[in-house]
Amino acid sequence: MRINDPNLLKGLAELGVELRPAARLSDLTSLGIGGTTDLLRITKHESIPGLLNLLDANHIPHKFLGGGSNLLVDDGELPWVVLQLASPEPGVVLEGNLARVDAAADLGRTVTFCAKHDLGGMEGLIGVPGTVGGALRMNAGAYGMQIGSYVREVKLYRAATGEIETLRGHQISFEYRHTSFAADDMMLAVILELPSKPYNEILKGIRICNEKRRSSQPLGQKSAGCIFKNPPGASAGRMIDELGLKGLSVGDAQVSDRHANFFVNTSRASAKDMLALIADVRERVQKAYGVGLENEVVVWNA
Ligand code: EPU
Repeated sequence: MRINDPNLLKGLAELGVELRPAARLSDLTSLGIGGTTDLLRITKHESIPGLLNLLDANHIPHKFLGGGSNLLVDDGELPWVVLQLASPEPGVVLEGNLARVDAAADLGRTVTFCAKHDLGGMEGLIGVPGTVGGALRMNAGAYGMQIGSYVREVKLYRAATGEIETLRGHQISFEYRHTSFAADDMMLAVILELPSKPYNEILKGIRICNEKRRSSQPLGQKSAGCIFKNPPGASAGRMIDELGLKGLSVGDAQVSDRHANFFVNTSRASAKDMLALIADVRERVQKAYGVGLENEVVVWNA
């Protein structure tokens, strides 16, 4: 979708929103898949209510993009514009055991920055690509921990009220890869309360998690991490592996031969290929195990 109306362009400029015309979502997602649309980069949180009013008044549908690492975007010309927070520098401010983090901050860098200041707890998240905002929305987790456990406060834009609000940790429910945030809530910043731990000890934990990840996941390839959520008490990756589906492909979309719940884009896979592969694997697992696998990856259909 293209924004051409001069009044709208003027409104965006007044709000300090940067327009990047015809951005390719394949360049902005870790899967390397996705069509084209206008990208609006937000530099000031305060401009968001005005921006959303402006888009609504001009009937421009929109979606919020985080780090693009858990996302499968449709092909072709997309029927909505994409909003993204510009990454701040430095993105993290520490005060005792509290870390105030901008939602656009890179998750891995945040974990490392806190570690260097003797704040631990998030070792398991090292190596999870994406932004802190994205991790928060999905309650990202790995190796026995999840980000939700450390959330003290979240600043967000609530589409339902049209306002920027602050929620305390206990007002939010964090479950396995699921939170009580509404789909159109936009994460802006978070305060994490992290346990004190000496840097060397945190570093040991980080190294162990890195090693586990390197030995079991296709890190060098284009993927969106795990495609399916694990059903209660089971592992989607193990089930897919047991069915002998590693290497199964549709076009350039392929079930990783390293971890069967990672589907990789080996070259120029389309969303259509990837969605067909997901549907095929889901059906085979349903037939063999009677289990309906739920997507973990977020899908943006055009
Ligand atoms: N397994 C296989 N074959 C495979 C993959 C896994 O037999 O191809 C077996 C493993 O040997 C292990 C079991 O399945 O016994 C579980 O595998 P793994 O430890 O890799 O964990 P997972 O359940 O597949 C989850 C998360 C990952 C996270 C890891 C580590 C989900 C959907 N996945 O994977 O998160 O990194 O644990 O904590 O919850 C993600 O969310 O995108 C993600 C990658």
